[in-house]
Amino acid sequence: MNKLEGKVAIITGGASGIGEATARLFAKNGARVVIADIQDDLGNNVSLSIGSDRCTYTHCDITDEAQVKSLVDSTVEIHGQLDIMFSNAGIISKSDQIVMDFDMHELDRLFAVNVRGMAACVKHAAHKMVERGVKGSIICTSSVLGRIGVMENTDYCMSKHAVVGLMKSASKQLGQHGIRVNCVSPYVVATPLTCDAFEKEGTEVEKIYEPLTSLKGLVLKKEDVAEAVLFLAGGESGFITGHDLVVDGGFSV
Ligand SMILES: NC(=O)c1ccc[n+]([C@@H]2O[C@H](COP(=O)([O-])OP(=O)(O)OC[C@H]3O[C@@H](n4cnc5c(N)ncnc54)[C@H](O)[C@@H]3O)[C@@H](O)[C@H]2O)c1
Repeated sequence: MNKLEGKVAIITGGASGIGEATARLFAKNGARVVIADIQDDLGNNVSLSIGSDRCTYTHCDITDEAQVKSLVDSTVEIHGQLDIMFSNAGIISKSDQIVMDFDMHELDRLFAVNVRGMAACVKHAAHKMVERGVKGSIICTSSVLGRIGVMENTDYCMSKHAVVGLMKSASKQLGQHGIRVNCVSPYVVATPLTCDAFEKEGTEVEKIYEPLTSLKGLVLKKEDVAEAVLFLAGGESGFITGHDLVVDGGFSV
């Protein structure tokens, strides 16, 4: 506990799923958290349930760079600093998106969030940290699909490979300022993103994917991913940068 005492963190996509679990864990560990999302009711409810002394909600569509800059600026205005950016918001393909049937409009829509939006978050967090001499930690959510090829959801797989490239480049460029940049790359977790995409309940999603990992009898939960993010955010990972922390129970080995 209190691994992030005194730290200020932004979590994009913090109204739901992995972002929400991470917001709760960060707050438990002493951080002040700003949840940034486009689901305003959900985001406000999550921040209220965590407690307004620990967590606030800000509307921010990461596809709009001006909103991302304003999120970072207002966080520093209100909380006095920015130590951690968990750039996590993402969407999944609407259709199969196999290569020969690419819907380019859909591909652009997905890249606007998963790649362009993620890049804007890294850019503006880095600007603010460098400007204020903060040796911060930036964590991006990629995916186990950022390492392997797939039979469908090709645009999603491409976007998550791009996130790893963004993270590796940012880690090289920002290391001179003491800023660490890493990825967390989860295996399948039952969240609204996966349940909606597969049109299944959480337990059904877990039943399908549990047998495919090396760790038999264990199911990946959003809280497990949050623990990995906490590790990357806090001092225990102080010499780790440019790393893609895969949380997949050995699936991709
Ligand atoms: N769930 C999984 O199996 C899994 C596996 C690997 C990686 N991921 C990645 O984890 C991240 C979080 O996903 P999740 O599973 O928690 O899904 P989720 O749908 O529960 O949460 C994603 C959040 O991002 C928000 N969001 C979407 N577009 C946005 C935008 N333009 N601006 C701001 N916020 C936006 C959504 O409103 C939502 O609250 C995503 O990047 C996803 O690709 C998920």
